[in-house]
Amino acid sequence: KQTQIIEEEELKELKKSLPKTSFMGCEQIQLLKYENFWCGEMYIQNILMLQRNFIAQDTDLLIASLPKTGTTWLKSLLFSVVNRMKYSMNNKTPLLNNHPHDLVHSLEPLYGEAFEYPRPHHLDQLPSPRLFSTHLSYTSLPQSIKTSECRILYICRNPLDMLVSLYYFSIDFMKKQLGEEFKPPSMEYFFEDFCQGKHPCGPFFEQAVEYWKVSLEKPNKVLFLKYEDLKDDPSLYLKKLAEFIGKPFSIKEESEGVVQEMIELCSIKTMKGLEANSGGEAINRFYGKNSFFRKGEVGDWTNHFTPTMLEKMNKLMEQKLKGTGLSF
Ligand code: A3P
Repeated sequence: KQTQIIEEEELKELKKSLPKTSFMGCEQIQLLKYENFWCGEMYIQNILMLQRNFIAQDTDLLIASLPKTGTTWLKSLLFSVVNRMKYSMNNKTPLLNNHPHDLVHSLEPLYGEAFEYPRPHHLDQLPSPRLFSTHLSYTSLPQSIKTSECRILYICRNPLDMLVSLYYFSIDFMKKQLGEEFKPPSMEYFFEDFCQGKHPCGPFFEQAVEYWKVSLEKPNKVLFLKYEDLKDDPSLYLKKLAEFIGKPFSIKEESEGVVQEMIELCSIKTMKGLEANSGGEAINRFYGKNSFFRKGEVGDWTNHFTPTMLEKMNKLMEQKLKGTGLSF
């Protein structure tokens, strides 16, 4: 099948027609609303390319998430579970000297570069099962992902911690884009935008609820995971993950401590300490290697939310999640 490219004129017209908003109060960085979700202006072309050209394979495994909900963590866990026969954990796994984002590729460019499709990683030549990630909503996924047998692992996080994480990550991003003189808005300002859904890949609740509903309707298609559950009982959820992808742990593996070993390796403490994930060295001109590993805790929001913010968020959550069965 021939790659369908996006004509410059078409792209220009589309961008012109989409609703726009500034990000972090800064006119230089615009988000556009495409298929009901906000995304960085530079992603549009790649999303279109992806939607028109990507052909899923039945064996593909796709991590879907909003930014800052535990994507990097899930990448390292999924990679470990899938490749556990190939590498011993302690001394051979590529996770010891590769950033998780270089082992599980983002379908739409994660780093904000306008990559061409197929990505430089040559998606079509990856070994099976291919592992991918995306921040796209379920609606916007390429059709073949929905119609094939490929499986989706969705990770979600309580919106309060996600917001705090996104705030710090975005400041870093903006400084890399605009220089150290960038003056970050207050957390309160950022919070107001978040409540209106104006954040990359937002609105938060709309995306989470979409995947949540599919996970209920098609439990073999979408596994819905929560960051907090993974933190609370990693072994239970790692076993669920392994079963979901059709690679359950054997009794022998469990008794030999394979599950525990993976949890240790993928813990924030270990991952953050690895050279591949630390230091100011940049993955590209937008993010440092270490920017995906901050605190990795549940409840950091308590250090940032005022009682007024908490009240507003609780009301919003109640309103958006009412009747869905989803809660945080
Ligand atoms: P904090 O900023 O709250 O620390 P994403 O990978 O989706 O971009 O999410 C990043 C968040 O996940 C950050 O949260 C980061 O510290 C946390 N994180 C990264 N690796 C982790 C790990 N191995 N275990 C737990 N949390 C992790």
